[in-house]
Amino acid sequence: MREQNIHISLRLYQEEELNTDDLELLEAARQATYRSYTPYSHFSVGAAARLANGTIVTGSNQENAAYPSGLCAERTALFYANAQYPDQAIDTLAIAARNERGDFLSAPIPPCGACRQVMLETEQRFQRPMRILLFGTKGIYEVKDAGSLLPLSFDASAMK
Ligand code: THU
Repeated sequence: MREQNIHISLRLYQEEELNTDDLELLEAARQATYRSYTPYSHFSVGAAARLANGTIVTGSNQENAAYPSGLCAERTALFYANAQYPDQAIDTLAIAARNERGDFLSAPIPPCGACRQVMLETEQRFQRPMRILLFGTKGIYEVKDAGSLLPLSFDASAMK
């Protein structure tokens, strides 16, 4: 038996340390939370993708009475971006969330597993790292690529 460890590297920023592009993207993600449809969870998530051409595309979680029919903010944003701009890689994806009291989370929002899987495929599709910014009022995580958020990931290469 051999124990193995997989490390992921994150950077923790305060908002005042970010450049104007990232601040703009985070604000777009925060604003997107107000366009979520969350009558069931009352948990509002916003995602904003900056495409390689500079365009910002946003998404928010959209719920449904048939719960699994709803979709997370990240996938709404990524699928919309890919549907509208199929030849544009995603440079950075910013994510923010508000709890049922309407407050932005203090710790950086952790994306769900299914969204991480879609982020990975999006990154691989364009063969270009997708930076991810996870907003929290007490700090913002920067992850250098989607692969870092999903160690031991399943992708198309596993089926070969
Ligand atoms: N949600 C997201 O939009 N993104 C995530 O990464 C985590 C969860 C949504 C799904 C559902 O509408 C609500 O948050 C509660 O799970």
